Amino acid sequence: MRPGRVCLVGAGPGDPGLLTVRALERLREAEVVVYDRLVNPAILDEAPPEALRIFAGKRVGAHCLPQAAINALLVHHAEAGRFVVRLKGGDPFVFGRGGEEALALSKAGIAFEVVPGISSAIAVPAYAGIPVTHRGVAASFAVLTGHEDPSKAGDAADWAKLATAVDTLVVLMAVGTFPRIVGALLANGRPPETPAALIRWGTTEAQEVRVGTLADIAGRARGLEPPVVAVIGEVVQLRQRLAWAVEAAADVCPVRARPAVAFPSATPV
Ligand SMILES: C[S@@+](CC[C@H](N)C(=O)[O-])C[C@H]1O[C@@H](n2cnc3c(N)ncnc32)[C@H](O)[C@@H]1O
Repeated sequence: MRPGRVCLVGAGPGDPGLLTVRALERLREAEVVVYDRLVNPAILDEAPPEALRIFAGKRVGAHCLPQAAINALLVHHAEAGRFVVRLKGGDPFVFGRGGEEALALSKAGIAFEVVPGISSAIAVPAYAGIPVTHRGVAASFAVLTGHEDPSKAGDAADWAKLATAVDTLVVLMAVGTFPRIVGALLANGRPPETPAALIRWGTTEAQEVRVGTLADIAGRARGLEPPVVAVIGEVVQLRQRLAWAVEAAADVCPVRARPAVAFPSATPV
């Protein structure tokens, strides 16, 4: 039996055009595809029709398959001699638990490869007209998880240090904890007039952007469902001149003339 192998592939943030050439090549060779919730279904269509497709879920607080079961699944199919593509939203190593899966494969002696993807941390702000760095405006940025509640002790991000140490803060998975994150930033010295943006389903036809300041952005976040990227910092103001993508909904900085880019519909599940 030929040895199986696993490829951890980043599917990018949603727009299928942001899939890398290598990712497409691997997907077209796949015998098994194990995919997450944020992978655009149009991308899955690139796998051979006969490839086994397994939904691994992953939603804050509600994993369809527990991480240990996902690891075991990858090992199982590779040990059976199959070529497995583990397809993840964005980049596998940016809050994607790709490192854990790679460790499990390494432990089981399975050959694996990593195909980095375009992370939502950078691409989603870019599609909203927000560069995460900009000469004279922001010389540093940090990508954080909002999954860690700043009011809890433990291994949460050090908001006290982060509040003023970095010019642009990009927060993923922040929907549930956003008001507390904003509170922690304000309490630790980030000025209330700091511009902030919330971008939902970025890079897809369903892209929605809400813009405000630290003082009012938590209120604007009300009713917003994941997936959302939050951007905090002066770079958000550039959106007034740089917003270019067609958006399903936008506030504060509506853009008059934008090119119509047709993306396949995002499928919130
Ligand atoms: C588990 S993390 C995975 C991040 C992924 N590995 C990456 O590099 O983009 C999921 C979070 O990514 C963000 N996200 C991913 N795709 C997004 C999109 N199209 N629009 C807005 N946020 C997105 C959201 O914050 C979401 O809760």
